[in-house]
Formats: sequence, structure tokens, C-alpha cells
Amino acid sequence: MKVLFFTGKGGVGKSTLAAAAAWQLSRQYRVLAVSLDPAHNLGDVFGVTVGNGGTRVSPRLHLREVDLRKLARDYLERETKVLAESYHYLRVLNLDNYFSILKYSPGIEEYALLTSIERTLREEDGYDYLVFDTPPTGLTLRFLALPQVTMTWIERLTAIRRQILDKRHTIQKIRGGAKEWEANREIRLEYDESGDDILKRLRLLADNYKVLIRRLQGEECGVVTVFNPDLLSLRESERLITGLRELKLPLVLLIANKVTAENRALADRIAGELQRLASGAAVASVALNPAFTLGGDTPLYEIPEDLTVHFGGGGEDHV
Ligand SMILES: Nc1ncnc2c1ncn2[C@@H]1O[C@H](COP(=O)(O)OP(=O)(O)OP(=O)(O)O)[C@@H](O)[C@H]1O
Ligand SMILES: [Mg+2]
Repeated sequence: MKVLFFTGKGGVGKSTLAAAAAWQLSRQYRVLAVSLDPAHNLGDVFGVTVGNGGTRVSPRLHLREVDLRKLARDYLERETKVLAESYHYLRVLNLDNYFSILKYSPGIEEYALLTSIERTLREEDGYDYLVFDTPPTGLTLRFLALPQVTMTWIERLTAIRRQILDKRHTIQKIRGGAKEWEANREIRLEYDESGDDILKRLRLLADNYKVLIRRLQGEECGVVTVFNPDLLSLRESERLITGLRELKLPLVLLIANKVTAENRALADRIAGELQRLASGAAVASVALNPAFTLGGDTPLYEIPEDLTVHFGGGGEDHV
């Protein structure tokens, strides 16, 4: 399965070109197009309403729009439950209170998005292509960076947890076990690494994130950056490409979108600069399409340029 992330500055044409690429690929392959942008418009591009379980646009093309608020709520509920189970003896920790405050915490949406990507990659193996339409650069880079940021946290937290267990072990040797009280019941606190739920949970998280990082950095995943022939778009694409390089995420294609006879020379120059920065990623060019205005008769996802040649498409039929 190949995985493509369409990224770029706000309004450059990520959703339109993600839809176009998904549509073109679906002529030969089974494709799932997923919108990760809270302001969904992937459905609009196809002129359909995407329901809760997704929508089938054609026999080989499915659309899905991620409900970010629901995802964030589910994510928090799940994590609060884990917290409640691991720290059931700490009644001083008012978890309901935590839950109501945590939902305003920065980073929750990014984690929820990442969890949704991770689950989609793990579960949707019946498709040949996953095409992700992403929110504008800032949020996209933040959630793409999260697995690596999280690994650093997990390593640190694991070290701290080990120190705690070590101290408990010392206490156990001196006075026979660290204890807490819950509803007049004495609870023995774990000091052995192999029996500690928190360490187990940290190990599980570390394993999942390592797999995810390997997949995101691997051959099957690729980032597509869309830009328009203008200076702001160039600067934002530079930031995006630098960010992707730091994260070791492979940029496979740069698309100059909304190209006209007047701005072609500028589009080529910007493409050249970005290509140098991106160490030679392929470049495609999509013309400004007058049919995309209201009343045009070409559907919004139909573009004359063939994008599949850049994604390993165009070969034998895989369906
Ligand atoms: N090649 C094109 N020719 C003409 N109009 C285009 C082209 N590509 C995109 N557009 C138009 O530009 C606008 C922005 O496109 P789109 O919504 O795909 O961008 P986006 O990058 O997904 O935006 P956002 O960051 O808001 O999600 C839309 O009105 C779309 O129809
Ligand atoms: Mg969009």
C-alpha cells in the first residue's frame, strides 16, 4: 500500500489535487482518500456529502472525513480511562476535573489526528493507495513531528519511572513494601519492572510509535507539496520542506498549481528553488483551470494533467 500526504499553504489547492490524484489513481487502484483538515472540503470537491462511515464515490474510490472534535473526545476518554486504571489509588487526582480541562490543552487535536492516521495505516490494508488531504502547513508539520517528539518523551518518562521503581525497591528492602490506601484498603505498590503497568504502557506506546515512524519515513509513504507561483507560497513551501527534511519524511513530488501563461516563468523558477532544497523531488505543473469556477461543467476533481505517473501509477491493473 502506498500512502500520500498532500501538504502546502492554505488555499494552494491541496484538497483539489488530492481529490484529482485519488480520482486518477482509482481508475486502476483501490483508493481511500481521507481528509484530515478540520475544515473539510474533500466531499465538496466531489460534490458529495461524506457521512460518518465515509462515502463511496466510485467502486474503487472511498472518501472519509475525519471528525476532529469526536476524535479528540474519544482520545481523551481513552487516555483518561488508562490513567484512572493505572492510578486508581490516587483519589486526590480528580480525573473528571482533569478531563474537562485537558480538552482545552494544546496538542490534543494533533494527537487525535495522529492516532487516526496510525489507525488508518494499520487497519486499511485493503487499499492500494491512501491519499491524505492535510490542513495547512503549521498543523500538518506539528502532527507529523509528534511521533518523534513523543518518543523523546517516552524515553524520558521511562527513565523517571525506573527511578521511582528503584526507590520503591529500596523502601521495600527497608520496611517491607511501599503502600497506599484506597477506601480503607491497603494497596501494595509495584516495584518490579516486569509487573509495573506504567512501564508496560510506556513500552507499548514506544513500540507503536517506532512502527509508525518507520512507516512514515519508509518507501511506501510520500509527501506531496502543492504551491502556487507566488512569493508567500514559496516561503511557506521552503519552511515545509525544511521541516520534512528534519523529520526525515520523504518528499516525493512538488506541484506548481494554478499555473498560467503569465506566471509560468515564475512557477518554473520557484519549482527549481524548491527542487534544489528538496534534493531533487519530482515536479509537476497544473494549470489554472477556468472550469473550477461556479457553473463550469468539468467536475472539480477532473484535471487534464496526469499525476499518477509520479506515484507509481500507470502500470498494470491492481484490482
Ligand atoms: N488548478 C486550479 N485552477 C483553478 N482553481 C483552482 C485550482 N486548484 C485549486 N483551485 C481553487 O482554489 C481554491 C482553493 O483550493 P483548495 O480548497 O483545493 O485548496 P486547499 O489548499 O485545500 O485549501 P485549504 O488550505 O483551505 O484546505 C478553491 O476555490 C479551488 O477550486
Ligand atoms: Mg483543503
